[in-house]
Amino acid sequence: IERYVVIGNPIAHSMSPAIHTDFAAQLEMPLQYARVLAPLGGFKQTVRALKAAGVQGANVTVPFKLDAFGLADVLSPAAQFAQAANTLIFQADGSIHADNTDGGGLCRDLSRQLKTLGLQLEQCQVLMIGAGGAASGCVAAFHAAGVHHLTVLNRTVGKARELAERAEAIDLPAAGGSLDTPPSHFEIPGAPVVIVNASSSSLNGDVPLIHPAWFERAVLVYDMMYAAQPTPFMQALESTGLPCSDGLGMLVFQAQLAFEVWTGQSPNALETLTKVRQLVL
Ligand code: ATR
Repeated sequence: IERYVVIGNPIAHSMSPAIHTDFAAQLEMPLQYARVLAPLGGFKQTVRALKAAGVQGANVTVPFKLDAFGLADVLSPAAQFAQAANTLIFQADGSIHADNTDGGGLCRDLSRQLKTLGLQLEQCQVLMIGAGGAASGCVAAFHAAGVHHLTVLNRTVGKARELAERAEAIDLPAAGGSLDTPPSHFEIPGAPVVIVNASSSSLNGDVPLIHPAWFERAVLVYDMMYAAQPTPFMQALESTGLPCSDGLGMLVFQAQLAFEVWTGQSPNALETLTKVRQLVL
């Protein structure tokens, strides 16, 4: 039987066990997936114990994604860019491979939703709000997905510019600015805009306000947060009439990518998403 875990602190509310157990059930694979609460400062010891116990891989969540990156012997380009990892593979030779599937999960969910609008992610540019860990976790995936251009807007403008410069360094055309910067400020392509809220403002019930001209070019709005109700960001944008999505799909698709990395098999993530949505309500 294959054994995997999700490591975090806190961890009790993680939906990863439900998601991966459903994936395994779909594919009729014998698989155990457990929650592991690692003590703060005790990530490395926890991983060592799990490896010794024969666990094959781990998902990693808050606050250990940087520790997971630091522990890895081999890094995927996404983990390298983000300097953070959410998926670890414990190899038979004892080495640890690290990946970051958050951005890939976001791109899969965006692609799926754009398809219903008759669009592909490759045709679009992305406006990303926020320049912290969640935002930098997605840049390599935007590049891999072939998005035209990335604009990063952030409350702290220096962080937006820095992330945009790092994106350009991997050949993703990008620009950074403050939250109130209008699209006309940048020389960006006329491609349809996908707006992604990667800021943690919803945690405080805040909504990052961006220049309204962005909505004239937008085709889809995505908030990485999710809840039983539409997030504050989604509620604030309801009047634009744009299709708005929360981030539950990103959660399920990042898990699908991790499952593929571990097992080489791909479950039906949409089937699982429907079930997970019921758990959130
Ligand atoms: P995470 O890992 O969730 O990305 P983080 O690395 O602390 O957390 O980054 C949080 C992001 O949300 C930052 O871009 C932050 O903006 P600053 O760089 O200016 O701090 C953004 N953020 C948090 N609260 C916000 C708010 N109330 N309004 C706008 N942006 C906010």
